[in-house]
Amino acid sequence: MELTNRPRRLRSNPTLRKMVRETRMDPSSLVYPMFVTEGSNKKEEIPSMSGQYRYSVDRMEEKLIELQNAGVSSVMLFGIPEEKDACGSGAYAEDGIVQKAFRKAKEACPGLYLIGDVCMCEYTSHGHCGVLKGQDVDNDQTLELLAKTALSQVQAGADMVAPSDMMDGRVAAIRQLLDANRYENVPIMAYSVKFASSFYGPFRDAADSAPAFGDRKTYQMDFHNRREAKKEALLDVAEGADLLMVKPAMAYGDLIREIKDLTNLPMAAYSVSGEYAMVKTTAAAGFIDETNILCEMAVSAYRAGTDIYITYFAEELAKCMKEGRIG
Ligand code: PBG
Repeated sequence: MELTNRPRRLRSNPTLRKMVRETRMDPSSLVYPMFVTEGSNKKEEIPSMSGQYRYSVDRMEEKLIELQNAGVSSVMLFGIPEEKDACGSGAYAEDGIVQKAFRKAKEACPGLYLIGDVCMCEYTSHGHCGVLKGQDVDNDQTLELLAKTALSQVQAGADMVAPSDMMDGRVAAIRQLLDANRYENVPIMAYSVKFASSFYGPFRDAADSAPAFGDRKTYQMDFHNRREAKKEALLDVAEGADLLMVKPAMAYGDLIREIKDLTNLPMAAYSVSGEYAMVKTTAAAGFIDETNILCEMAVSAYRAGTDIYITYFAEELAKCMKEGRIG
């Protein structure tokens, strides 16, 4: 048989396969999302996310060191307060849970890069991502609180802030307040393309942040929309975002690629709680191989254009990358 092209030639040897590999990744691109709770000596497993825990501030250090040893150099912190109120005042309290966690993390592991998720839903009694006017979130009033939240996180030690609320104008509002307080060098990673997704189910269980009524569809995006994703991304670029994010990651690879090609900013993708829980439960049932699947999911996100991968599997992935299993 005279075949001019034999693609299999390049797959014929493992060394060659690695040489021609198109997607390369490194543990420095991983971010681990971590839940911090009030109280002491707590490491509570999250029922819907086996292998993930809520840590009290005094128990954070062991996990942070473990992450660092695994080669994960960045952590995103989520606070779970004891008390919630209508305006989410715990989100921007000087001694709020996440502020205490930032101080502790900075002191315990000064080499770790710390990112703050800026949102109100873990702190509001109604579970929505801002203050309410009637049955809906009041956009402009919420902006002020989000900016205060971002500032308080930075003052407590956050190296970067990541607004996940999906209010219009939040990047500009946060930038303005940070700059006015001489934090002009603190970057903003905007959850620009964040969908109203059922993949967040286990997170809301973890953070006790499910909305008490209704849903988030008046602020998070409709997952049917692609052009609107571009609109959101470009608005955040114009408002001064330094990095952009697509969330969830799995099932949204098309948009990771689209936004990557559209802008010049680094691209983050958040592989969310539902993705994690699906892998964990299916693997526990013996139907899939957990490590192979999490590697394949990660590579698909990177192949789509991800520079920064936020995942509950960060430690496992760092290990797989170091061992050369992927990357
Ligand atoms: C806060 C926030 C959420 C997630 C990250 N930040 C929940 C939501 O929007 O309901 C989800 C993360 C995950 O599912 O892992 N707004």
